[in-house]
Amino acid sequence: MLNPDALADAALAHATPAGAPADHRPEFLQALQDALAGPPRAISPKWFYDAEGSRLFDRICELPEYYPTRTERAILARHAPDIARHTGRGGELVEFGAGSCAKVQLLLEALQPRRYLPLDISTEHLVEAAVGLRARHPGLQVLPVAADYTADFRLPAPLPGVPRIGFFPGSTIGNFTPAEALAFLRMAARLLRGGGLLLGADLVKDPAVLHAAYNDAQGVTAAFNRNLLVRARRELGVDVDPQAFWHGAFYNAAQARIEMHLVSRRRQDIVAGGRSWRLEEGEALHTENSHKFSIDGLQALARLAGFEPAAVWTDPQRLFSVHWLRAPAQQGDGR
Ligand code: AVI
Repeated sequence: MLNPDALADAALAHATPAGAPADHRPEFLQALQDALAGPPRAISPKWFYDAEGSRLFDRICELPEYYPTRTERAILARHAPDIARHTGRGGELVEFGAGSCAKVQLLLEALQPRRYLPLDISTEHLVEAAVGLRARHPGLQVLPVAADYTADFRLPAPLPGVPRIGFFPGSTIGNFTPAEALAFLRMAARLLRGGGLLLGADLVKDPAVLHAAYNDAQGVTAAFNRNLLVRARRELGVDVDPQAFWHGAFYNAAQARIEMHLVSRRRQDIVAGGRSWRLEEGEALHTENSHKFSIDGLQALARLAGFEPAAVWTDPQRLFSVHWLRAPAQQGDGR
């Protein structure tokens, strides 16, 4: 059955603990006001991902400079049978931040999941992707869940005796602060106990490669960055010209992360929710961190969260890593 409305209803039924999709605008306004008030003048990158932001991110993934997506895809495609030996077959696959549900397709044949639960904050994008996936895999049970997996969310009841296999590709874990990454992994270790997490993590490398990946020649990453302000104008009525900001992205070696900023081209006032803030020329809003990892560092973090790192796959150039982290059935309190 290919009914987008029914799929959208299913997605929204699991959207929040209350069973209704939340209006995110008050939280977005608060986040933006806090960021403008600073210091630090920083906002969570989760606000990039409205439907347009998700589309721009999909375009980034196809850029010649942006190596993470194609490298991770190659790792998954090449090692899918070995990955399945670790995860087992016939589990329930839960993808955090599924977006266009593209990468999971590399695993479906090998993992033969009983059910696939894609979670994403962007409902429209999620439902579109779930409809497409069902069309291509008619035998697969797809239950989209519109949710912010960094906040409170609810999954459909587990299938008795079926282990949950988490899938968190793309190195989205790198967009968290270290404390958020640990909190996410602790949550995942609890949710997936008896199964485990397949996690993609970008590796520390030559800063020139990183710089190119976040400063692409076509300016798609710049548009993605500015879309935060485009969205704030449209959803919050914020009086701001996105073109009055340039895209700043650089590698901060001390923190092992790419930082993205929106840098004011001139002195300007931004009015958001009836309050006004002045930005001088060169002052910036910090919009994203993208942390890069060592394999040992990532495994140490996973252990701290209650996982048992059991396998890791990389590409020949060691640009990217995919980890299998077992979540023991019996866990401590994960603290
Ligand atoms: C989603 N995330 C892993 C991307 C990254 O590389 O940190 C987001 C992104 N930002 C700019 N380009 C891609």
